[in-house]
Amino acid sequence: MKNRINLNEDQIPTHYYNILADLPFQMDPPLHPGTKQPISPDDMAPIFPMSLIEQEMSPQREIKIPDPVREAYQIYRPTPLIRASRLERALNTPAKIYYKYEGVSPTGSHKPNTAIAQAYFNKLEGTKKLVTETGAGQWGSSLAYACHLFGMECTVYMVKVSYHQKPYRKTMMNLFGAEIYPSPSNRTDAGRKILEQDPDCPGSLGIAISEAIEEAVKTPHAKYSLGSVLNHVILHQTIIGLETQKQFELAGDYPDVVIGCHGGGSNFAGLAMPFVRDKIHGKNIDIIAAEPSSCPTLTQGKVEYDFGDSVGMTPLMKMHTLGHEFIPPSIHAGGLRYHGASPIVSALLTHNLIRAEALGQLEIFKGAMLFAKTEGLIPAPESSHAVQAAILEAENAREEGKEKTIVFNLSGHGLLDLSAYEAYLNGELQEEEKQTAVA
Ligand SMILES: Cc1ncc(COP(=O)(O)O)c(C=O)c1O
Repeated sequence: MKNRINLNEDQIPTHYYNILADLPFQMDPPLHPGTKQPISPDDMAPIFPMSLIEQEMSPQREIKIPDPVREAYQIYRPTPLIRASRLERALNTPAKIYYKYEGVSPTGSHKPNTAIAQAYFNKLEGTKKLVTETGAGQWGSSLAYACHLFGMECTVYMVKVSYHQKPYRKTMMNLFGAEIYPSPSNRTDAGRKILEQDPDCPGSLGIAISEAIEEAVKTPHAKYSLGSVLNHVILHQTIIGLETQKQFELAGDYPDVVIGCHGGGSNFAGLAMPFVRDKIHGKNIDIIAAEPSSCPTLTQGKVEYDFGDSVGMTPLMKMHTLGHEFIPPSIHAGGLRYHGASPIVSALLTHNLIRAEALGQLEIFKGAMLFAKTEGLIPAPESSHAVQAAILEAENAREEGKEKTIVFNLSGHGLLDLSAYEAYLNGELQEEEKQTAVA
């Protein structure tokens, strides 16, 4: 039995997969924040290049991956699909557990899959600088890397609590030539407004998005870039699931359960979308998004039109949301502290094509420790939600005596999150209170 299923460089997919072509229902369109009418491509042009706006709205099933982007992917793709046989033995489960390991990318997570594509399409249209937000720093460091690859400047607003929890992410972004500011900051009207109300605000992804959009709109030749949530980001991330399907073919296996952690939805959807396509066509697959119980967007959020940022600058999107003013507790899985969800993921949940689970901070670290001890890789706190969800599924399989095949996305490594592991080992981590939506 092979534990590691590898593909060759020439097996990197040539096209992204667009689930919008196969959905058995209509998506509600994003609305202009002023007129409340469906937004037009021109409305989005101040913040995104036209090629990405076209991808955002495209009904085409397959979208070609440009050669320079495929070449850049070759640095770390195809990523391995690995059978977690030692974890299986430790759990004494009849289930087979596989993980798709995205932590082999230059910055240690799935985020470069879209950062490289976004930087490339921006560069083609003359953008000189990209401005963005980041939670735990995985996205910011990925965009910093991608901007460096294509000769562009990069500014990152990093959520303040994570900026202090993960100082080496800042170093990484600086190393790739990016500027980085803790958010909320005094550099933007959005940041100043929040600081006036709460000088000690720990920040949130929603606030950092407001600051980044404001700077992008005010700076000549600059555009804004988002690391999750939007259709074009999910499109780029489908490269994960497309590779995984080829790898399962090689292994002569197929998953019964597909799991990803969920912040804005990009790594979950990236793995899951090709499997959702199969489910739409009749396959029986349990597809699970695992989120933190302290920021339970999918399990507790309302489905309604809401802003993607805190101040209310983005288009209104129909999604699961805890309310755009919701500021999640300062958990270590900084990349999962987001009030909203991808509209695609939200719609799939509403139509029962996927389901969601909420997990507590202490249980996900317990799962991550078991995974690290058996498989030797230290998962990012975000990814640990998927690890723990997979462990729970494997334990259920043991109780039921069922031979299930489980695959989860190990979206990133936790080598820059060791302070969180140290706090866990020292017994200093709290179980954050379960949260509900802002009324
Ligand atoms: C390692 C890792 N996994 C998951 C996420 C969550 O984002 P998304 O839901 O877009 O995949 C992040 C976000 O920063 C991350 O860094």
